[in-house]
Formats: sequence, structure tokens, C-alpha cells
Amino acid sequence: MAIKLVKDNIYSVGVVDFNEKHFHDHTYLTRRGVTYNSYLIVDEKITLIDTVRRGFEKEWIKNIRNVVDPAKIDVIIINHIEPDHSGSFPEILKICHNAKIYGTEKAKLGLIKYYGVCGDWIVVKSGQNLNIGKRILNFIDVPMIHWPDSMFTYSAHDKILFSSDGFGQHYATNKVFDDEVNFFILMDEAQKYYANILWPFNLLIANKLSIINKLNLGIELIAPSHGLIWRKHISEIMKKYHYWSSNSSLNRVAVIYETMWQSTEKMAKKIAEGCNSEGVEAVLFDVTKNDRTDITSYILDAKGWIFGSSTQNREILPIISSLLNFVKVTKSKKRMSFAFGSYGWSGEAIEKIENILCDFAALEPSVRTIFNPTEEELNKCYEVGKYFAMKIKIDEA
Ligand code: FEO
Repeated sequence: MAIKLVKDNIYSVGVVDFNEKHFHDHTYLTRRGVTYNSYLIVDEKITLIDTVRRGFEKEWIKNIRNVVDPAKIDVIIINHIEPDHSGSFPEILKICHNAKIYGTEKAKLGLIKYYGVCGDWIVVKSGQNLNIGKRILNFIDVPMIHWPDSMFTYSAHDKILFSSDGFGQHYATNKVFDDEVNFFILMDEAQKYYANILWPFNLLIANKLSIINKLNLGIELIAPSHGLIWRKHISEIMKKYHYWSSNSSLNRVAVIYETMWQSTEKMAKKIAEGCNSEGVEAVLFDVTKNDRTDITSYILDAKGWIFGSSTQNREILPIISSLLNFVKVTKSKKRMSFAFGSYGWSGEAIEKIENILCDFAALEPSVRTIFNPTEEELNKCYEVGKYFAMKIKIDEA
């Protein structure tokens, strides 16, 4: 990506990777690629915010060099140390001999552990400021949003919040601002990002958002470490973060299943038909044909979660089991759910699914069949789906 002016004397100098489709070592399907954002503020003290993933350091340093001589950087702010943002830190340290490095205590310890170096580090906390000339930068700790070291940096002079992984999206583009791309695609990617990266930290996010709101910062730009900068749609993304972090949901349903011989699948289809007959949209997800991160994105704000699995060796089938493991850590509330499945002997998978779901959902009775479901059993699945949808609508009222 060529360098882009974000605001007077603030440049986006990060890199775009259109080819990264399997972020986080294949745990996140990034269909639209990834950006690693880094920002350069040219003030009395030349300030760099975050680095980029290792492997992109040459392109990144060239971007910086197009604005200033990197050796003249006075300040490096490390908002977050995950390697997609810190991987090139050792490279920039070799160039910026006089730079002071600012970040949390945990960030310092993490960088030493990762790279054996941390430079001339100054530990900062929420409430502390750094004067870089015309600008005073404010640091805001955001531990576990989404790592213990995470922090945001705010420039009141520019009304920009440099939000690290917060408000990010995996969306590779040479554009810089939210209003330069399709709004619906952008919000879709923001939802997927929230669901897969931030969802387990809902409570912390809700608390931190309320603290930031009280600060009345008058934010005009939110510059995350991935994807587009929020300029036009700040209120929309803020509202979404409030909505997602408060476990709010729509009256729609996900019927998620894994099947061995299509018996559980036949049940899933009938359950979904029953839901749809009541006007509640039910989407079918065969976990072997859908990526886990897409399903997670859908269920983030779906009120009804219906999980089905055949039983194999007394267990839930492996792919849906891995999705349930993720769901478990979200600690979501206010959902409605039930389990279903076909089995040959004892059907333990169904109870095991219920044991996971009961922690965060109002559970309806399960539906089960032995081997191939009969016409009568499929009719029952339809009726159960219909009843479930009716309950969802009542709950909404
Ligand atoms: Fe984009 Fe937590 O790293």
C-alpha cells in the first residue's frame, strides 16, 4: 500500500496483504485479505504507532521513508504486541537508535519474551500523556481487548483514537477510510472480526466503552490496526459494539449440525423448515461445508442456536465439537437453544451438547432419533422447529 494522508501530518504507512486468506495460522478465514496498519505522526517528536507483521518490514520501512527518514523517529508507541503488529519491531529498533518506546508493562515483558529486545522502554498506563509537540497523546489501557498488553492511544488535537485491534476488520484494500468502500461489506467484516476476536471479552468491552463514552472525547476518526479507518460511520460502529457486547440478538436462528449418514441432516432441514414456517429465519450450517468463523459471525447476534450431531464413540462429532468449544468461551447469555441428533446405540452426543449449551441458553428439550428418522419423526422435528420459533417471537415481545 502506498502511504496515505489520514489527517494533517498523520500518515497511514502500514501494509496490505491481499493473499492472506488463513489468518492466525488457519483459525480465521480472511476471504478479503488482511491489512497491518501502522501510523506515523510528524510532529516535533516524530511518532510511530505500531509496527507490522514480520515479512513486510521492507515495504513498511520504505513507506515510512517516503515521509521521513526512519532514523529520525523519536517515539514508537506499541499498542499491542501480537506478532501481526510487533513482528517488525526488532527491525525498526535497528534503525531508530534514539527512539523512546511507549507501552504497557505487559507489552514490554511480552516483547522481551518474543524478540529478546524492547528498546528504551517507558511504561505507561491509563491517564498518562505524552507531549510530542502540537499534540498530547493520551494512553488508555484496554487489557484483554484482546490481550493483556493492549492499549489505545488518543490524540485530542486530531480527535483520533488509535484503537489497536478494537474496531478492526480483515479487509485488504488500498482505500483508507470507511466511506471509500461498500458499507455492508465493511460492517459484515467488522461483525466477523468482533465475533472471532473480541466476543469472549464482551463484559470488558462493554465496561471500557462506557468509560470511553464518559470521557466525551469527541472522536472524529477511529484508526484500528486492521482494515479501514472509521470516519463517516463512527456512530454506527460504536452502536454495534454496544449492541454486540451487551449480548443483544435478533430473532433469527442458526441450525448447526454435523452428520455421518445424513440422518442428522434430515432432522436439521425439518427443524429449519419449522422455524421458517413461523416467519423466523433459520439458516442451516453443515459444519463440514462452512467455515467456523463464518458460522461464529452469524450466531453472534442470532437468538436461537440449535446444535445437532450424530454420536460417534460416545462423543460429539469432531468439527462441531470444536465450534462448541469456541461458543463455550464466549460466555454468551440470553440465547435460546436445543440439541438434536441421530444415533445408533446410546446417543451421548446430545447430552454433551446440552451440557455445553445450558451455561448460556434457555434450553428446550432435545430431539433424537435412532438411525434413519421416520416420516413421523421428521414431522416431529418440523413441529419442534415451529414451536421453538414461536417461543423466540414471544421472547422478543
Ligand atoms: Fe491483530 Fe491481536 O493482533
